[in-house]
Amino acid sequence: MRLSAESITIGYDRKIISEDLSVEVPEDSFTAIIGPNGCGKSTLLRALARVLTPSAGEVLLDGKAVQQYRSKELAQRLGLLPQSSLAPDGIRVADLVSRGRAPHQGLFQQWQASDEEAVNAALQATKLTELSGRLVDELSGGQRQRVWVAMLLAQQTSIMLLDEPTTFLDIAHQYELMELFRGFHEQGKTVVTVLHDLNQAARYADHLIVMRDGRVIATGHPQDVITGEMVEEVFGLRSLVVPDPVTGTPSVVPLDPRTATATEAS
Ligand SMILES: Nc1ncnc2c1ncn2[C@@H]1O[C@H](COP(=O)(O)OP(=O)(O)O)[C@@H](O)[C@H]1O
Ligand SMILES: [Mg+2]
Repeated sequence: MRLSAESITIGYDRKIISEDLSVEVPEDSFTAIIGPNGCGKSTLLRALARVLTPSAGEVLLDGKAVQQYRSKELAQRLGLLPQSSLAPDGIRVADLVSRGRAPHQGLFQQWQASDEEAVNAALQATKLTELSGRLVDELSGGQRQRVWVAMLLAQQTSIMLLDEPTTFLDIAHQYELMELFRGFHEQGKTVVTVLHDLNQAARYADHLIVMRDGRVIATGHPQDVITGEMVEEVFGLRSLVVPDPVTGTPSVVPLDPRTATATEAS
């Protein structure tokens, strides 16, 4: 277990979102966190990334409390792509991606060849090499999201935390990003991502954490976790779970609420 939350209490000001919450991110997994809006997914991710400090319990990374890491050391192991990020005005693609190198630079250390290599590799992996001189503001939504992913990639962490990385993208750009994350995972990174699309979660993740009301309701392999009962319990949606015709992974098809009610009534 590389990353885990041990009975943490997290929230904002005096509002507690999760109490006594424990989660485990299996080593080398592609973990997806799913659950309704406002159930505390982003709050959990922030706590895992030490953006938020639990008022009780602790988050462990490689056997040590995250609070005990020096910032740079932590940022060399774990990177977070927040739910929404605003690029500084007038910044160009390569410059934004270069910021991912900050944790690797010392106080008096110059930009090194290894930094250049990491940035170039990140640009290439995200197909941004051609766009490296462009202003981030002038890119399409899909391109801009790839820039943030490239910045995270340039950070060269073995754990990536992603908060709804595909929301607001069209379906093709969503899958393009998911394929990119699959590639990172295949290269040995641990990927933890909040996702809204259950079918995507089932296709890409090998471990699910299902949340509701600040609590973990279920964890495990998508095949075991995604069931009609779970979807109804967690999302209040009646559905049929069928094998995805392309991949065979569980696929959620909502029932027609009118027909479902009529059937029940009859
Ligand atoms: N910065 C904040 N200050 C106060 N409350 C917040 C803040 N961010 C989120 N919340 C509240 O915490 C709860 C959980 O939010 P969040 O973790 O963002 O949920 P999710 O990511 O699952 O949609 C919600 O009720 C939300 O309104
Ligand atoms: Mg969120």
